[in-house]
Amino acid sequence: MKFHVLTLFPEMISGGLNLSVIGKAVENNRIALHAVDIREYSLERHRKVDDYPYGGGAGMLMQAQPIYDAHRAVTEGRNVRTIYVTPQGIPFTQTMAEELSEEEELVFLCGHYEGIDERVLEEIVTDYVSIGDYVLTGGELPAMVMIDAIARLIPGVLGNDTSMEDESFHNDLLEYPHYTRPEIWHEKGVPQVLLSGNHAKVSAWRLEQSKIRTQKRRPDLYAKYEKRQLLITQLSKDKRNHIHMMESLARGTAEVIYENQTECGVEAILYDSKNKICMSNSPGVLSESNRREAFCADAEYIVINRPVQEQDVSEEDAGSAFKDYCVLSQCKLMLYTARTSLPVKHKNIRLVSDEDIFKSEGFADRLYQAGICADGHYSSPSGGADEEFRLTIVEYLRERAGSDALYGVFMEDNLAGIIGCHRGGSLGLLYVDTPYRSLRLGASLTAFMTNHMLEKGWVPYACLPIKNVSCQERLEKQGFYKASGKIVIYRKKYLQTNPGYAKI
Ligand code: ADE
Repeated sequence: MKFHVLTLFPEMISGGLNLSVIGKAVENNRIALHAVDIREYSLERHRKVDDYPYGGGAGMLMQAQPIYDAHRAVTEGRNVRTIYVTPQGIPFTQTMAEELSEEEELVFLCGHYEGIDERVLEEIVTDYVSIGDYVLTGGELPAMVMIDAIARLIPGVLGNDTSMEDESFHNDLLEYPHYTRPEIWHEKGVPQVLLSGNHAKVSAWRLEQSKIRTQKRRPDLYAKYEKRQLLITQLSKDKRNHIHMMESLARGTAEVIYENQTECGVEAILYDSKNKICMSNSPGVLSESNRREAFCADAEYIVINRPVQEQDVSEEDAGSAFKDYCVLSQCKLMLYTARTSLPVKHKNIRLVSDEDIFKSEGFADRLYQAGICADGHYSSPSGGADEEFRLTIVEYLRERAGSDALYGVFMEDNLAGIIGCHRGGSLGLLYVDTPYRSLRLGASLTAFMTNHMLEKGWVPYACLPIKNVSCQERLEKQGFYKASGKIVIYRKKYLQTNPGYAKI
């Protein structure tokens, strides 16, 4: 990601952001920071960039021309999202940071004096954003605040897989209290449960503390949390068919967009804005075109529950229901409801890096040919192997590895197999390389990932193609239960030719 900042004080940006975590990320080329001095684009002899307001009034305004020319020099004709930081903008939130972190490039425009000539704003600005209801002397600090919040969401910037998942606001709950050594300080001990080594108990204690803290400090957030919990309870009446929605709510990755009580239970639409996945347990609520357009305008994937007896949905059928989407796969949800961890026979399982996969000669190609992706999310649009599709999988594996969502089993330092968590939250990406079959590495990998999800306080679940019965049976042997119905996953059509579409 490249951040360009149009400013009158470039030293403030580089001085403030080239340190600590963000400074390291710049050094490691995870992000690029480009502070652009607007004065360089002034046509005046004394590099003047401001003038008096027409109609009178106090103070000076920044002129249009230097800003426009600086913007043109930076964007070079590319369509780059351009954020004007202003107290008149919409409030900056964690959700907005997540959305912006998906961009490849961003321009921030920092104002000074009494403001900026409206005409240049009309021509270059795509978003007006504020960091809060107070007025600062200029836009540099707000731009730095936003860049920090966005940059830390970019894979590889923080370099710690849990720090992002547990943090404040992640789930409408504030973070629980933390403790480090010494065990006693000012005669105060560390809560006993944190010394117990029991992950489940630690997670339960942390959740309880988060709730108490949020209720006390942020009753507004707590009300949101409670509403979300109520919907989870309602969906849990048919847990096996709703586990993907329940987990998206519980893990804080999806927002409730619509809910309606009916005689048969609750109908809901959820939206995971980071992964652009829209979910509904009722085809009806999404099939009305006005709702569909309002709720799914942005979605790359739509996931809908259907009864299993219903005939397979063909690509053409999708055309009438969702005209911009085609059917990607039809899946069975499978979930692990026990709280106990599974035995892992092979111990040498650890996080997989980009390099692990690509230094292992031909691993990605064999994995692709074996159809890791027998789980259906990856069926090639042309129905066969093609270069573009191979690249898509490689890119997806890179993204998953970069997000610390991919684990591998190593045999004498060689990567022998992988497993991971899909962007949508299900367990998957299981593959064991050819020389290592028959060692039951698959069972160890599945058990490991199941335990890992349990430790995070999640309910482990998978989403397997209806036709992949052998894989379903293997999971059943490890204690997973199968849903009675199925889910149909639709994918936006333009994504077929857009690398990176296999992202659910
Ligand atoms: N510029 C001055 N005050 C600001 C604020 N609160 N948010 C964004 N930009 C600003």
